[in-house]
Amino acid sequence: MDHIQYALSTGQSKKNMFNDIRFVHQALPDSAVSSISIKPKTGDLNLKSPVFINAMTGGGGRDTEQLNGLLARVAKETGAAMAVGSQMSALKDRNERQSYAIVRKENPHGILFANLGSEATVQQAQEAVEMIEANALQIHLNVVQELTMPEGDRDFRGAFDRIQAIAEQLQVPVIVKETGFGMSREAAEKLAGTEVAAIDVSGFGGTNFASIENERRRRKLAYFEDWGIPTAAAIVEVKSVFKKMVLASGGIQDAQDMIKAFLLGADAVGLAGSFLKTAMQEGEKQLIEEIEALHEDLAMMMTALGAENLTDLQKCPAVISGELAQYLSARGFS
Ligand code: FNR
Repeated sequence: MDHIQYALSTGQSKKNMFNDIRFVHQALPDSAVSSISIKPKTGDLNLKSPVFINAMTGGGGRDTEQLNGLLARVAKETGAAMAVGSQMSALKDRNERQSYAIVRKENPHGILFANLGSEATVQQAQEAVEMIEANALQIHLNVVQELTMPEGDRDFRGAFDRIQAIAEQLQVPVIVKETGFGMSREAAEKLAGTEVAAIDVSGFGGTNFASIENERRRRKLAYFEDWGIPTAAAIVEVKSVFKKMVLASGGIQDAQDMIKAFLLGADAVGLAGSFLKTAMQEGEKQLIEEIEALHEDLAMMMTALGAENLTDLQKCPAVISGELAQYLSARGFS
């Protein structure tokens, strides 16, 4: 609940660099709203909606159980996939399981992602998947968050080998995700040689776990607050070397951010902080309406751009300027 409160109070920085992308309007798009498909490409994840509710909650008793229940009903109503927060606490303490298991109870046929950190073993990964009958497992990478936490990990050796073993042995697809600091080309290149099915770039510019953890520290590690790869840049980094599914998250708040993520090559987008705010401050019905509006707004903009499906968006002309243009050029992306 601490994380939830601090995520709401620190908010979203909007430094994800999507503002440096501008579409070129097409006056003759030869399109119709009725012929637009916003369905993601059928990859291993079998997504129905291009939007998913990213990992946030679980453990910690009644409050998180209620929030997970709400998010699961929203996911069921809208067809969005949903990830639960890290299940490590429930692997260690059976009493915590109910706050995760509720998501499968509320959404028996939906697409659900289990979630663990890269310290997990193959057996723990299997247990986490079984706990919610998950369709896939997210493994999160959160080096900067751990370093900013006084009680956090200080040794990150062996993570890649554990991820590789889990991806080889688990029955369901594995998604490797960051937690708001972004995934680089170098990290994605390592994962490209494994059985990992998808990468969620989870870039800088939205929820900032350095700011959240600094709220709980006396001596702040301010240098981590402006650390990370902005989401727009992270999509390009990962897409350049990882040819399976690329998911985008990190400060995505509206359909305009989403459509820019698709333009850069994302296959689906995840929202955490922004959905959390709506869920906590406005409630279930409003969150359902927000996701339905995102679906509708996507179709409207795709019609204006003459893109019939999400893959077509990658062919739409756009102008990249400012810091994003500088970043991409400095990293050698044309
Ligand atoms: C998170 N996030 C997260 N990620 C993860 O893999 N396991 C987790 O347990 C959590 N916990 C968590 C709690 C809260 C309150 C928030 C807001 C977020 C990270 C999340 O899934 C996402 O990667 C980042 O928050 C960036 O996306 P947004 O929030 O900018 O849309």
